Amino acid sequence: MEDRESRKAHWEDVYTKKGETEVSWYQENPAPSLELIARIGATPASAIIDVGGGASRLVDKLIEQGFQDVTVLDLSEAALGAAKARLRERAARVHWIVADATIWEPVRTYDIWHDRAAFHFLTEESDRAAYIACLKRGLKVGGQAIIATFAMDGPQKCSGLAVARYDSSSLGRTLGPMFQLLHTKRHEHATPWDSQQVFQFSTFQHIG
Ligand SMILES: C[S@@+](CC[C@H](N)C(=O)[O-])C[C@H]1O[C@@H](n2cnc3c(N)ncnc32)[C@H](O)[C@@H]1O
Repeated sequence: MEDRESRKAHWEDVYTKKGETEVSWYQENPAPSLELIARIGATPASAIIDVGGGASRLVDKLIEQGFQDVTVLDLSEAALGAAKARLRERAARVHWIVADATIWEPVRTYDIWHDRAAFHFLTEESDRAAYIACLKRGLKVGGQAIIATFAMDGPQKCSGLAVARYDSSSLGRTLGPMFQLLHTKRHEHATPWDSQQVFQFSTFQHIG
């Protein structure tokens, strides 16, 4: 198992040294995620958690769309600090959790679990199993998990760290029989320096 302390140190260092728009995963508009959230019929009452949300602007858009129950979880305090500073007084409408998703113990459940480019850093089987156990506890039965990772032809590294790449089938096998694939799409992300990274975004239903 990767040392969790060094994982946290890595991400704190990234978000302390780099501005929001200086990281490869920066997206001004998280349109692919918003499209999938709309596609599953989310309403402003849906409880949604962005796991490994970092300083992403998804939270801004969800607030703008009137979502009332939004949580952002990340192991980096600096990442969440950047998002809070950007949101200013609107930050008070969000639940913020500093935690490592491989050891976090959810104390409630959510209708929608969103993860863009956090799960794919889990290259050890034990870490993936711990994350999936957390997902099963935190996502309501009948709820949806939207998980975006680098696709099979996507980069092999991100932020200097190795990643595991997926298509919807391999991701489905990894998540196990409690998750049924509803939808998948490929997305070409343009980094701030205009290189392309191929992602897969898959939506799974927690069938319990
Ligand atoms: C590539 S960034 C993506 C951030 C955000 N999802 C986005 O789309 O902008 C990966 C994020 O996952 C977080 N992360 C990595 N491993 C994590 C873990 N085990 N638990 C919680 N967060 C994690 C990092 O701190 C970082 O913010």
